[in-house]
Amino acid sequence: MKEIIKALKQLNSGVVLVAVASEAHKANAFTAAWVMQVSFDPVLLAISINSEHTSYDIFKEGGCCTVNILEQSQMEFAAHYGQSGVTDKMSLGTWVASECGVPSLQEALVSFECKWLNEIAAGDHQVIICEVLVSKALNEGVAMLYSDTENMDGSAELVAEIEK
Ligand SMILES: Cc1cc2nc3c(=O)[nH]c(=O)nc-3n(C[C@H](O)[C@H](O)[C@H](O)COP(=O)(O)O)c2cc1C
Repeated sequence: MKEIIKALKQLNSGVVLVAVASEAHKANAFTAAWVMQVSFDPVLLAISINSEHTSYDIFKEGGCCTVNILEQSQMEFAAHYGQSGVTDKMSLGTWVASECGVPSLQEALVSFECKWLNEIAAGDHQVIICEVLVSKALNEGVAMLYSDTENMDGSAELVAEIEK
């Protein structure tokens, strides 16, 4: 694995499923590691999303998402929702509609319901700033780390080597 890939994974973000839905589109979800808290008051999260993902347009249309924190043993969830163009993508797990209509994952450690506020272009991704409206602690456990997923996201082929 490239040195830069190993180094970036030591930033040690967790792994979540971001679920989205809109009136025009049924629910979808994708695995994400680039999600972080960026404010206390109000509680804001930044979600970095590739605008080519199916979830991006749905999120923008619907204006709401849930951020569902995975437990370290839930690799099957990370792998399944890390794939694009899967028929019946939401078939894995128990998804229950949240107040804004987007499903939340009942097997997650925590599920946040969030409202889209604005977006910032960031290289090949868009950073969505969203406000946490509801926080539900659902299960006990230890959160999965991005580094636990090794090259599941194919990042070894996506990142440019950085000069030392
Ligand atoms: C461990 C892991 C972490 C990922 N992190 C992100 C991320 O933070 N942002 C992003 O846009 N895609 C991320 N991806 C890639 C998406 O999950 C993947 O491209 C997915 O197929 C998009 O689904 P969609 O097209 O149905 O929306 C990650 C994938 C994996 C396996």
